Amino acid sequence: MEAIIRLKNIKKRIASEEILKGIDLEISEGEFVSIVGASGSGKSSLLYIMGLLDKPSEGEVFFERKKIINLQDKELAYLRNRKIGFVFQFHYLVQELSVLDNIILPALKSGLSQTESRKRALELLERLGLKGKENRKPYQISGGEMQRAAIARALINKPKLILADEPTGNLDSTNTQKVMEIFKEINENGTTIVMVTHELDLAKQTKRIVEVRDGVIVKQEFLQPS
Ligand SMILES: Nc1ncnc2c1ncn2[C@@H]1O[C@H](COP(=O)(O)OP(=O)(O)OP(=O)(O)O)[C@@H](O)[C@H]1O
Ligand SMILES: [Mg+2]
Repeated sequence: MEAIIRLKNIKKRIASEEILKGIDLEISEGEFVSIVGASGSGKSSLLYIMGLLDKPSEGEVFFERKKIINLQDKELAYLRNRKIGFVFQFHYLVQELSVLDNIILPALKSGLSQTESRKRALELLERLGLKGKENRKPYQISGGEMQRAAIARALINKPKLILADEPTGNLDSTNTQKVMEIFKEINENGTTIVMVTHELDLAKQTKRIVEVRDGVIVKQEFLQPS
């Protein structure tokens, strides 16, 4: 399988601290990778670099064979909007907008028509068990529902790659497992997923575990042939 993302000797320095110390990592199409490690080990920083949200101090990032350093901001924004879906630990839904409008927003931003955006959003709402909640505001639904709304929003542009940072961080075990089942289904359907988690139980449900310690990858485990 072709690599979606390739990181070569990535280093990240903030002030005088080196928080990533030479990361080599390749994510192939169709993979479901979890990134585990202690708090402060560099997981989020790594995910932001993979998501083209942040630039490394040293090293090279390739997205679908394109060298990121050579791209203009416009091209970067295009890749981020069209090809990558982000799910953050805190969902960042817009409180003033309905659930439906939150989900539709990235589709409209990327130029999809109102009609097609609505159609896709309604399909996703149904698939994620949010039917009937579309006209509520984020503060009028539960935490689990917010998380699923955030996942719907991440999926609306049919990204090739989902990057999720502790997507179940503030969910109970039932909703956590629901989110995991959704991720597995999306992955079976061809979407590549990289998920940061500190729960080993969840990591074990993915296809590869990457362990980060103090800005270095210390261990990798493939859980099934891919
Ligand atoms: N903008 C920043 N300025 C200064 N230090 C930062 C910044 N962002 C991250 N760091 C530091 O870099 C290290 C790695 O942070 P990072 O957020 O990547 O850790 P993490 O593995 O995601 O932790 P957690 O599990 O708590 O989310 C930490 O020591 C953190 O304090
Ligand atoms: Mg983090």
